[in-house]
Amino acid sequence: MKCPQCAFDNKPGKKFCIECGTKLTLKCPECGSEIEGTEKFCGECGHDLTTPSEPIVKELSFDEKLDKIQRYLPKGLTEKILSQRDRIEGERKQVTVMFCDMEGFTPLSELLGIEEAYSIMDQVYEILIHKVHDYDGTVNEMTGDGIMALFGAPIALEDAPQRAIRSSLAIHREMTKFSDKLKQERKDILPIKMRIGIHTGPVVVGTVGNDLRVEFKAVGDTVNLASRMEGLADPETTYIAEDTFKLTEGLFRFEALGEKDVKGKKDPIKVYRVIAPSTSRTRFDVSAERGLTPFVGRVRELEFLLDGFERAKGGRGQAISIVSEAGIGKSRLLYEFRKAVASADVMFLEGRCLSYSSGVAYHPVIDILKANFDIRQGDGDSEIREKVKRGLKIIGLDEASSLPYLLELFSVKDSGIDKIPMSPEAKKDRNMEVFKLITLKGSEIRPVIAAYEDLHWSDKSSEEVLKYVLEDIPGARVLMIFTYRPEFVHTWGGKSYHNQINLNRLSNRESLSMVTDLLNTESIDIDLEELILEKTEGVPFFVEEFIRSLNDLKLIEKKNNKCRLAKDIQDVTIPSTIHDVIMARVDSLPEGAKEVLQTGSTIEREFTYDLIKRVKELPEQELLSHLSVLKDSELLYERGIYPETAYIFKHALTRDVVYESILTRKKKNIHVKIGNAIEGRVENWRGAK
Ligand SMILES: Nc1ncnc2c1ncn2[C@@H]1O[C@H](COP(=O)(O)OP(=O)(O)O)[C@@H](O)[C@H]1O
Ligand SMILES: [Mg+2]
Repeated sequence: MKCPQCAFDNKPGKKFCIECGTKLTLKCPECGSEIEGTEKFCGECGHDLTTPSEPIVKELSFDEKLDKIQRYLPKGLTEKILSQRDRIEGERKQVTVMFCDMEGFTPLSELLGIEEAYSIMDQVYEILIHKVHDYDGTVNEMTGDGIMALFGAPIALEDAPQRAIRSSLAIHREMTKFSDKLKQERKDILPIKMRIGIHTGPVVVGTVGNDLRVEFKAVGDTVNLASRMEGLADPETTYIAEDTFKLTEGLFRFEALGEKDVKGKKDPIKVYRVIAPSTSRTRFDVSAERGLTPFVGRVRELEFLLDGFERAKGGRGQAISIVSEAGIGKSRLLYEFRKAVASADVMFLEGRCLSYSSGVAYHPVIDILKANFDIRQGDGDSEIREKVKRGLKIIGLDEASSLPYLLELFSVKDSGIDKIPMSPEAKKDRNMEVFKLITLKGSEIRPVIAAYEDLHWSDKSSEEVLKYVLEDIPGARVLMIFTYRPEFVHTWGGKSYHNQINLNRLSNRESLSMVTDLLNTESIDIDLEELILEKTEGVPFFVEEFIRSLNDLKLIEKKNNKCRLAKDIQDVTIPSTIHDVIMARVDSLPEGAKEVLQTGSTIEREFTYDLIKRVKELPEQELLSHLSVLKDSELLYERGIYPETAYIFKHALTRDVVYESILTRKKKNIHVKIGNAIEGRVENWRGAK
């Protein structure tokens, strides 16, 4: 019997949980009143307690489980994971684990019989698996009446904790729908509800099987704690532990449930219940809500945007791309620009791609359209219809040939699109046309600034739309702004009215100006100053996170208004937020290149071509091609002339993070190889003499 407190599965007949001592109560399967377990008939309703109820859950065979998991996997994902299997194995990773369990399978199987209950369970599995995949998680285990899913392993993911929570909310939502549907067929079925627990922590990936299941080594208690959270959760809720909370604070509304004792943990754990997503959708929204660090530098960049706007206002449409790595300040620059034009007569529209939205067609385009028609969260179908009609009238666009398309994009019921017979291609073309007309006609009334954020996560259809609209803006009062990371390859570089702003890292002076603001003092001890500069390397996001983490760890003390390190620390751990940003970048490298980077990090911040060649023992062409990938992605830079070249980690922080991600045993092996290689070279040199 499962303990209601700690979820431990006790043998039948136990009165108290042998793990946590909670009283275990038995219930009459008929009326639900408490029974001792020794009676022949229920004292409340007279139900015959001697006839054994049917076995609750038939354990699925391993093959059956696998079959289920595989059946629902999106195309391509299997190959992607398997092709990267070697490099995933034996890595230290941060992963978010989600346990999801169904409440009420027992009464269901009693009511419908095992056969039918299983067919329902199958549909439940399908929903669970789909909703996990929607957010790029993988299902790692099928339990009797639920699943265990992973986000961030085997493939590293940005925003894994956020995805896990969103996936859990989607599961609850879908289950309610499913339950309602069942209820229509059979009135006496109780609602099916899931209990979900989530926890984020470090794991060491063991092996990855052909079925994509991840075995863990030295897991610590990350997996355990997630399962404990699930055990604590009420039906239809998601419970998370503190680590996940810290990484997603501000993106959702939570209810703090206080500290709870958890089996296997010495200290009680802070537990939170997820209520709903907040209005903030990105890390930047959350910072803006919390209060931003005063803006430093970027004077020229801001000027450039303002100039672009001036030209666009005068009828010479412009497009500007703001490009930088994560955390350098693309969103912030856009925010400051928006502030700077706040009083101008302009329609400022923003659309976003999200890290988990690249599979959602037209995501940023729909954002822009919603902003254009002033459609807000919570607007009902009829309200949306009215707003769109009104908007179309204002810009003078024909209703019949545009309304159904827009309503369909907004997922409004009875959009009228099915009454228009056309091929998917023709529909797509019309969607593009409608979007373009709205932008252009809108700009005849007021200049339009349309900003598209984070195109590196864009879906294909949105990209096509943007390209299409871009063709026609040179003569319109339109400024299009795109932000993206360098890995995004756009197709509009050649246009004369398109310009690019490459955001650089902050200078030391600018970083320090942020630091003084964050620490709220002018006077900072030189050691602390140097530590911060070294660990943050001009990335404003890192500056904020690093100082936050030093404060959390109480490593900064203020005496006589001067800030200094509270203790002499040798090794400061890099906060996991920073770690994740860097690792996500490293993990997206192609096969082989990442291994070369890891080996390089084991040598030093700088290593010679000769040495890495001896250590890696790869064919020359292959090694050179890996190194060139690393150079192109600006992780390494090269010095000297081949073959006397040396490679240097552009940022020391990247080297630290990569080095930390390698397991101790693997590190030792690499060190031995390096030792041998160096010795071999000395021998050669001696021999030559
Ligand atoms: N020039 C700046 N001055 C002060 N803070 C900045 C600056 N640029 C960025 N930041 C802060 O750093 C964090 C990361 O910036 P963000 O714009 O979100 O980066 P990106 O969009 O490039 O990933 C934000 O909290 C932002 O307010
Ligand atoms: Mg951003």
